[in-house]
Amino acid sequence: MLMVIGSLLSSVETAVLAEGAGDLAFDDGRATAGRFATTVKANSQAATSPERDALLAKVETALATNPLFRSAARPKALTRLILSRYRQEQTYGLHVDDALMQGLRTDLSFTLFLSPPESYDGGALVIEDSFEARAIKLGAGDMILYPATTLHRVEPVTRGERLAVVGWVQSLIRDAAQREILFDLDQSVDAAFARDGTSAEFDRLAKTRSNLLRMWAEP
Ligand code: NI
Repeated sequence: MLMVIGSLLSSVETAVLAEGAGDLAFDDGRATAGRFATTVKANSQAATSPERDALLAKVETALATNPLFRSAARPKALTRLILSRYRQEQTYGLHVDDALMQGLRTDLSFTLFLSPPESYDGGALVIEDSFEARAIKLGAGDMILYPATTLHRVEPVTRGERLAVVGWVQSLIRDAAQREILFDLDQSVDAAFARDGTSAEFDRLAKTRSNLLRMWAEP
């Protein structure tokens, strides 16, 4: 399941983050790439500093409190976030993300776009599955959540600058199909409650969700 989480950050929060990123030092992105990815990765990443960590902490808070992200990802833990920057001709060729990072299993990947799409050319995130390649370029403050199992790439930036925050989630629910069932159940539980409050239907749906979580979760 690919999911767009619109306005994870407000336009003000996004602007503050992008401006703060302008004051940071950046390193060669190959430093954090896996053995094969170093051959296709050409971007920059914000170097470790208290200022960078303060900016990324705002994103962590936004993720932790976003109902759509919580429902779609059911996060157990997140990797450290990366603030990435692509300028003229920088790109990240086709690759798959490492399965294990910092002791976590990467079930889901996400990219939070920080630059307004009209401010740069190229730079779409292209996600491939067995049928097609999908190019994704979102508004500033919007995020795409996608399976870490996919091959994907970032198209070369031919004008301007593309700033983004990327990270990975280990989910409580390892299986993507089970995660989707629980996501759908969340929608139905919410809809039933919004319509009638607690009811026999609501109780049954909530019980089913709870018991599926008990069956599937790896806490
Ligand atoms: Ni990747």
